[in-house]
Amino acid sequence: MPFYTKLGKLPPKRHIQFRRPDGGLYAEEVFGTEGFVGPTSTLYHINPPTQVIGWKPLYSTKAEYVERDTMRMRHVKSMPMPPKGDPVTGRTVLFGNADVEISVCVPAEGMDYHFKNAMADECFFIHFGTGTVFTMFGALKFGPKDYIVIPKGTIYRFVFDKPKAGEPDARFLLMESVNGSHILPPPRYMSKKTAQFLEHAPYCERDLRLPELPMTFDKKGKFEVRIKSRDQVHSYTYSYHPLDIVGWDGCYYPYCFNIDDFSPIVGKHHMPPPTHQTFEAHNFVICSFCPRPLDFHPLAVVVPYNHSNLDSDEVLYYVEGNYKARKGIEQGSLSLHPQGIPHGPHPGTVEATLGATHTNELAVMCDTFAPLYPTKAALAYDDLNYPKSWETGWTPEERAAAVATATTNGHTGTNGSAKKAAKVGKKAGRVTVEAKSKPRGSKASAAGSRSKSANTWD
Ligand SMILES: [Fe+2]
Repeated sequence: MPFYTKLGKLPPKRHIQFRRPDGGLYAEEVFGTEGFVGPTSTLYHINPPTQVIGWKPLYSTKAEYVERDTMRMRHVKSMPMPPKGDPVTGRTVLFGNADVEISVCVPAEGMDYHFKNAMADECFFIHFGTGTVFTMFGALKFGPKDYIVIPKGTIYRFVFDKPKAGEPDARFLLMESVNGSHILPPPRYMSKKTAQFLEHAPYCERDLRLPELPMTFDKKGKFEVRIKSRDQVHSYTYSYHPLDIVGWDGCYYPYCFNIDDFSPIVGKHHMPPPTHQTFEAHNFVICSFCPRPLDFHPLAVVVPYNHSNLDSDEVLYYVEGNYKARKGIEQGSLSLHPQGIPHGPHPGTVEATLGATHTNELAVMCDTFAPLYPTKAALAYDDLNYPKSWETGWTPEERAAAVATATTNGHTGTNGSAKKAAKVGKKAGRVTVEAKSKPRGSKASAAGSRSKSANTWD
C-alpha cells in the first residue's frame, strides 16, 4: 500500500477500452479510498464486479464489552484458547473500542468461501503457521512472524498449511481498524515528495512482500463471498470466481512484512516506544519490540522507566522472550496497561538487568488513544494476579532476592526458535548465550553471542 506497483495485464491508459481474448471488454473498477483522494488502485475484472446477488445476513460480529467502568491492569493468557472455527469465524475479540478490535484466532478448519471486510483494514500478526492468502490482488505466502496488512474491501481466502508433526497449531493476532481508517506506515517514515521510505525508517520497500501470481481464477459457478459490514457478516453469491482480476495498478493492496525485518533503532539511553512504531491508523498505533542491543551508556538503566502514557491504553502481545522478566507473562499473553495509572518494571527488575547488553524480546504492541474494554471472552482467560504483581517486592531484601533469582535464571531470554540450540554458560560472572542457529531472518540475534540479556517490555 505505501507505494505504486502493478501486477498482471493493463491497458496503456486509464478508462479506455481493454478487451478480453474473446473480444469483450474487461470491467474496470476504481478501488478508491477517502472520497477518491486517498490511496487507490485500478482493477480489471473478467466479469462485472457489480454482478452480485443474494445478500443474506449471517451473524453479528459486534463485540460485547464488559467491565467498561473498571480501569485496571489486565493480563489475558491466550495460549489455552482452543482451536475453533476458520480464519474468519474463529476470531475471538479480547479487547477493543470504537477504533480498533484486537482478537486472537486459532483456526480449526479451512475457509470454503471468500471474505471481504468492508468496514476495516486488517493487520494480522502470524504467530504460528504457514500458508497462502489468496487475494483479488494476487497471492501472499506467509509464515511465522509475518504481519499481513489487508486493506478494507479486499476479497481474500486464507489457506493454512497443515502443521507438521510437533509444530504448534496455526495462531494469529489481528488488529482491525473498526473506525474505518487505514493502517499505514507512519507518515514520518515517508518522503512527502515521493512516498519513498526515508533513511531513518526502520524498514523500507525491500522489506515488504507484495502480491504475486496466481491472481486470476476464470471460473463460472456459484461462489460465496462473506462481507463484513455494519458489524454483521452477510453472505453474497457470485456467479463467477471472485478472484477474477487480470491486472491492477496503484497504491492500495495487501502486503506482508516479517517482524524480523524490522531494524530496531537503539540509543545511548532508553528509546521510547515510538522508535518501535511499525504502522498507524486513526487513534491507534502498532509497534514491534524486536531483539536488539540495549542502551550503551555505561550507567544506563536498560529497562523502561516508569511511565504514564497519559493518552493511551497499551496492549502487548508476547511472542518470544524471557517471560520471567514480567511476572506471570507467558508466550501468547496479552497485557493491558490503561491510561490512568503508571506502569513500569516489576520489583527488582531494574537492579537485575543493570549491565545487560541486549534483549531477545519479541512482542507486538497496540497503543490506543481511547480506553480499551475487555470482552467476556477476555475475562475467561484473565489472570487476576497480574495487577497485584507490583504490590510487593519493594523491600531491600525482596529486591536482592529478585536479583539473585534473575541471576540464577540468567535473564537469558532466547528467541524460541533459537532456544533449542542455545547453550547457556557463565563466564567471569557474566551470562553468555551462544546461539548455534539463528531464527529466520533475525539479524539481531547476532547480539545473542555477546553477553547478558534482558527483556524490557515497554
Ligand atoms: Fe508502556
